[in-house]
Order: sequence, then structure tokens, then C-alpha cells
Amino acid sequence: MPNTTAPLVVVAGANGRLGRLIVASLLTQPGVRVRALVRRPAEAADLRSDRVELHTFDLSTATDAELGAATAGAFAVVSTLQGGPDVIIDGQLKLMAAAKAAGARRFIPSDYSYNMFTLPPGVNINTDWRRAFAERASAARSADFEVVHVLQGIFIDRLVMGFLGVLDAERRVIRYWGDGQTLIDWTTWEDTAAFTAAAALDERPVPERLFVSGDRRSLLDFAEAWSAVYGPLTVERLGSLDELKAETARRLATSPQDMYAWLPLMYAQGVFGGEALLGPSEAGRYPELRPLTVAEAIARGVV
Ligand SMILES: NC(=O)c1ccc[n+]([C@@H]2O[C@H](COP(=O)([O-])OP(=O)(O)OC[C@H]3O[C@@H](n4cnc5c(N)ncnc54)[C@H](OP(=O)(O)O)[C@@H]3O)[C@@H](O)[C@H]2O)c1
Repeated sequence: MPNTTAPLVVVAGANGRLGRLIVASLLTQPGVRVRALVRRPAEAADLRSDRVELHTFDLSTATDAELGAATAGAFAVVSTLQGGPDVIIDGQLKLMAAAKAAGARRFIPSDYSYNMFTLPPGVNINTDWRRAFAERASAARSADFEVVHVLQGIFIDRLVMGFLGVLDAERRVIRYWGDGQTLIDWTTWEDTAAFTAAAALDERPVPERLFVSGDRRSLLDFAEAWSAVYGPLTVERLGSLDELKAETARRLATSPQDMYAWLPLMYAQGVFGGEALLGPSEAGRYPELRPLTVAEAIARGVV
């Protein structure tokens, strides 16, 4: 028999990379139950356990009844969904409204980003969608219902840095735009998941903007830490920030359909432009968590 008094956290996108880590973090807390929302349960069968209910759910087609069933009884609803504005803005607004109607204490949308509130509009479409969600969601906040944006900088991760065009680990090359000295906030996937799980379960009020991060280092500092573990590497400057902006616009104009041509450069503008640094860290709210620094993460082989 499931223990129905233990808090239930609903995780949307539970079969994604971050979603799975959040489910794992939630399960480290005794008694916590998880409802894992997944589109294809057969692909997520390994998530099911005595404390994890696998719930088939597609946000794009969900009816009001399905949204109600997905969120019923939740203490918190956490989204790690990925997608365009239909998912990030409209879909998450529906999911958030269902969470509120179900009496949940809070909704955590799929942000997990640098400071999307200080990055100017028009730099990164993904950030613009998340900010548009935040603006519309803030009206739903009340004394009983929180919307919490988890903001942790960029993930310390080989794939993410490859996507950004920053790290080519095989060729031992690190590339950057600007002067390489701009500070960047870094956190591992696992630590972000742990902070998100802690925020989801928090009995106390949680700030609307939950800034947490493992480290703040420039790209040149990162390169030094990487080289200390992996040996000599080539560091290449790709151009100035103005050149980055011009290259982004050029690719957007010539290959509008090819997201991978220009989206990494939009993120690079956020990372190297220095306009999206996190606000004061709230990590101290969760003293049991000690996120890895860049050097520690590199030493563990994360990048
Ligand atoms: N700051 C950084 O460095 C950084 C880097 C990477 C990601 N992120 C952010 O982290 C968050 C999670 O990213 P991720 O890489 O973990 O994403 P992911 O692995 O692509 O997972 C996203 C999940 O969303 C599910 N999904 C998408 N559309 C759906 C829909 N209409 N209905 C139901 N489920 C749907 C997918 O389901 P299926 O499994 O069925 O496809 C998938 O499991 C995103 O907000 C992303 O922007 C941040």
C-alpha cells in the first residue's frame, strides 16, 4: 500500500536527462513519492518503483481531466520539459494552472538557466520563451502557491560545452568569445537536480528566483582547471562579442530552419556577455548540499 501521507512530487519530463536526476534526488529523501510524467512509459519502465508511479502524459494533447489526474495530490510539480513556446509557455501555463487547482504548494518550471531575468530580450529565443512564461506565471502566485525559477548558470558538462562550441575534448581545444575573463556561473546537472528536489520539498516559502551555483569562474580559469587534469590544450579566441552577435545574426538569416546553426551562439552570447550572472546565491538554504566547483567536477571526469 502506498503511504499517502508522504509528500508527492510530480515530475514532468521525468524521462529526460534532468528529469531522471531530479527523480533520483527526490528518492534520496525518505518517504517521498514521485509521479513521473512520461510520454512513452515503455521507455521509462526502469523508473517505476514502490515510490515512483509512472504516469503516461503528453502535455501537447492533455485534456483538463488529464492535467487534473497528472497533478492530483501533488505537494509540488516540477517541470523539466523541453520544447518550443507551445510547451515552454502555453503548455507549462496549463500544467501550472492544474498544479494550483490541485492545491500544490509550488510549481517549478523548466528554466535551469543563467539569469534569464537580466539577459536582454532578443538575445536567446529559448530564454525569451522562459521569461515570457515567468511574466505570465507571476500573476498566479499567491500566499499558498509559489512559482520558483531554479537558476544555476550553465551545466558543467562535456556535451553542453560541446553544444556551445566551447570545448572539443577529443582535439583538446577550448574556444571562447570576448576576452575570456568574463565570469560565468557553473553547476553540475546532479547538483542542480539536488537543489531542485530540495526546493520542491521545502516546507518554508521559497524565493521566486532561486539562484544556486557550484562555482563562478571565467572560461580561461575553466581552461586552466581542465588542463591541470587533462594536460596541455589549445585555447582559441573566436572573436569579440560584437563579432559573436554579428555571426549569430548572419546564421539566423542564412539558415533560419537550422536551429543548431544559431542557437548555440545565442547561448554563447548569454554565457560570454556577462549580462546573465546569477543574483545572490540561495544555496545556504540547503546546507546539506555542497555543490561541486569547476575544478572538482573536472577532477571527477564530468567534463
Ligand atoms: N543551463 C544549461 O546549461 C542547460 C543545459 C541543458 C539543458 N538545460 C535545461 O534543462 C531543462 C531540461 O533539459 P534536458 O536536457 O533534461 O531535456 P530532455 O532530456 O530533452 O528532456 C525533456 C523531457 O521533456 C519531455 N517532453 C517534451 N515535450 C513534451 C510534451 N509535449 N509532453 C510531455 N513531455 C514532453 C520529453 O519527453 P520524451 O522523453 O518523451 O521525449 C523529455 O523527457 C530544459 O529547460 C533545458 O533548457 C539547461
